[in-house]
Amino acid sequence: MSKKASWVSRFSFYLLAVGSACGLGNIWRFPYVIGENGGGAFLLLYIFLAFTVGLSILVAELILGRSGEFSLLKITKLVSLQAKKPFYWFGRLSILINVVILAYYSVISGWVLHYLTQFIVGIVNENRIAYISSINMEALKNSGSLQFSLASVHLLICGFVVAKGVIERFEKIFAQALPILAVLFIVLIIRSFSLDSTSDVMRFLFYPDFSKLNLSSLGRALGHVFFTLSLGMGIMVTYGTYFKNDEHLPSVGFRVTTIDTIVSIMALLMVFPIAFLSDSNHYFTDPGILFESLPRLFVKIQYGEFFGFLFFLCLWLAAVNASIGLLETLIANFSDKFHKISRNQSTFMTITGVLLLMIFPAFSGTLFSKFKWFNQSFMENLDSLLINYLLPISGLGIIVIFFHLLNETERKEKFIDATGKNSQAMYRHWIWILKWFSPVLIGLAILLQFVNLFR
Ligand code: TRP
Repeated sequence: MSKKASWVSRFSFYLLAVGSACGLGNIWRFPYVIGENGGGAFLLLYIFLAFTVGLSILVAELILGRSGEFSLLKITKLVSLQAKKPFYWFGRLSILINVVILAYYSVISGWVLHYLTQFIVGIVNENRIAYISSINMEALKNSGSLQFSLASVHLLICGFVVAKGVIERFEKIFAQALPILAVLFIVLIIRSFSLDSTSDVMRFLFYPDFSKLNLSSLGRALGHVFFTLSLGMGIMVTYGTYFKNDEHLPSVGFRVTTIDTIVSIMALLMVFPIAFLSDSNHYFTDPGILFESLPRLFVKIQYGEFFGFLFFLCLWLAAVNASIGLLETLIANFSDKFHKISRNQSTFMTITGVLLLMIFPAFSGTLFSKFKWFNQSFMENLDSLLINYLLPISGLGIIVIFFHLLNETERKEKFIDATGKNSQAMYRHWIWILKWFSPVLIGLAILLQFVNLFR
């Protein structure tokens, strides 16, 4: 058994994969993407894409990981040499996206830290209710340096966990935080559902109005599928190397996708009843929808300040977990490329690079507020370019690499479960989706979004 495999039990394998998938993408990003795209119809489209394109690529990434224990950069290099084609560009693209996503993700994690500290102040404050009601995004929106500082604190803590090799200890803490987050989540949903807005929310979320979809909906739904399942960057390739050989990877992929989808829908049920109570609709499309609505929910709950603190603490731990996955992949690739430098040095250099990049998302609302393209702010453009265009393109690269690296026999052998009778039929469907359906949809999504931009 490899060194890596020995330290993780089966439970930790799942914790890694599910932990990397479930994060700010589900709880912070999903509600506003759904709000922006009109609710029910978009939600259906999203679920359909998650279980076709998303799941098929997730399984491909896990299988790639098991077949070689390589990082994506190494795999693409290998395939380039074999096929004598410049496939290594896919590897480079994935690294580039990885760095930028980590920078962007750190800034949002900084927002979580801000709320965490606000609720700590709320606990000790004399007039607790008045204090919680006043918690909002204003301070963050008006100060790029506050966003930058919080994001730096987040990144440095992640760097510390990675460099000091205390990931295992962090995983243990995270494993304990998860049940707390789950219980809190359920309590909050129940409370949220006792509000007057429930029937409107149910109609908005579960009664699909297809006229709300437009040319860019496909790309947005697909982009979010990639983001929330952590696809397109070889993260799941790394986790694939951790799974034991008797684990049936298609089932792993299915479970991860299911859990991730359930968590995302729970986030909608928590956020929208509150958002619907407000007079204006601007919240729905605002990236701050989670942060604007939650304090208004906690005010309505006894010991709300304490629950608020717990919620943001668990959310932040989830963000740390996802960030560590991104950081680890970067450092592993960095060390692969430059053999001579130590792990600490490569951690240091990676963190410095990400810190510099973070300037852009952190100051997007202040220093860079004049930079607007296509009627969107700097941050929105960055988000869209990364998630709706580059991640799916990188996913396409993974499909190409997958078919070049493994031949028919190897693919079958790694997919089919020795005991499962249905695997054979499932295998054929999976290959069809991976080879034809996904590339066509990715191409179409990018094309339609592009057309929509210039309409
Ligand atoms: N999936 C995570 C979330 O939903 C974010 C994330 C972690 C990610 N690692 C990733 C996204 C790799 C893309 C690629 O919060």
